[in-house]
Amino acid sequence: MRLGFIGTGTITAHMVRGLKASALAEWPIVLSPRNEAVAAELALLPGVTVAASNQAVIDQCDLVILAVRPQVAEAVFGALVFPADRPVISLIAGLHICKIAEWTGAKDIARAIPLPFVERHEGVTPVFPPQRHAMQIFAALGTALPVTDLVAYDAYGAASALMASYFGLLETAADWMVAQGHPRLDAVAYLRGLFGSLGDVLRAGPASFEQLREDHSTKGGLNEMIFQRFVQGGGGAAMEAALTAAFKRVQG
Ligand SMILES: NC(=O)c1ccc[n+]([C@@H]2O[C@H](COP(=O)([O-])OP(=O)(O)OC[C@H]3O[C@@H](n4cnc5c(N)ncnc54)[C@H](OP(=O)(O)O)[C@@H]3O)[C@@H](O)[C@H]2O)c1
Repeated sequence: MRLGFIGTGTITAHMVRGLKASALAEWPIVLSPRNEAVAAELALLPGVTVAASNQAVIDQCDLVILAVRPQVAEAVFGALVFPADRPVISLIAGLHICKIAEWTGAKDIARAIPLPFVERHEGVTPVFPPQRHAMQIFAALGTALPVTDLVAYDAYGAASALMASYFGLLETAADWMVAQGHPRLDAVAYLRGLFGSLGDVLRAGPASFEQLREDHSTKGGLNEMIFQRFVQGGGGAAMEAALTAAFKRVQG
């Protein structure tokens, strides 16, 4: 299949690099010209070309992947002609299939939430509905998670937006250590190792999050104390409220 991307930014770059190192490496890829610098870099990969325009992407591919920001989607797609039978996969957060259908005229539309880890074939990508081509593509980039229910898909969308908070937590901890007199490099190296190891623990087994928290808390110890203070200080409630706000936003 010849894949076309409209919107050549961060997530497209991760997907294209991942695809070119995957079982689907032979599939040609056509990119829209914008962003010029990202497109030029990706075009160094075998079988990746940059089209002259967004319309040329559609005309040259068998399946179109939409990867522009939601704010420009209507203006971008409204100016293009999509053959009704051309399958479309939208990566655009919060943009419903009915809107994409209205703006593109396409009939075979799926949505997906790839994250940067698809480049290393470690992405777990929700696909709604589980359209055949989308499942094949995201299975080649890690795990394709079939989703048949819009509410569940939107909950994945909200949870997928926890990445920045994870790193923000580390930022806060590093700043705090620096304020106690640690050189920043030492603080960052320590936290990088600690959280890297926790990531390994998470991957290693099926233990529940509650079990993992207990396994990493001595009774009456510091881990237990910090978690209790975090919850009492409103940390858990703030996270729930933020997830609910993200959920409402992706619901549109
Ligand atoms: N980043 C993620 O991890 C992630 C994950 C899942 C889904 N998504 C979704 O994927 C979409 C793209 O996100 P992103 O992070 O990749 O954003 P991004 O880096 O800003 O990429 C968007 C790209 O669209 C280009 N663009 C703007 N106007 C255009 C036009 N008229 N025609 C063609 N291309 C145009 C931008 O070019 P310029 O740079 O020149 O403006 C940019 O290269 C968003 O809808 C987001 O919700 C992102």
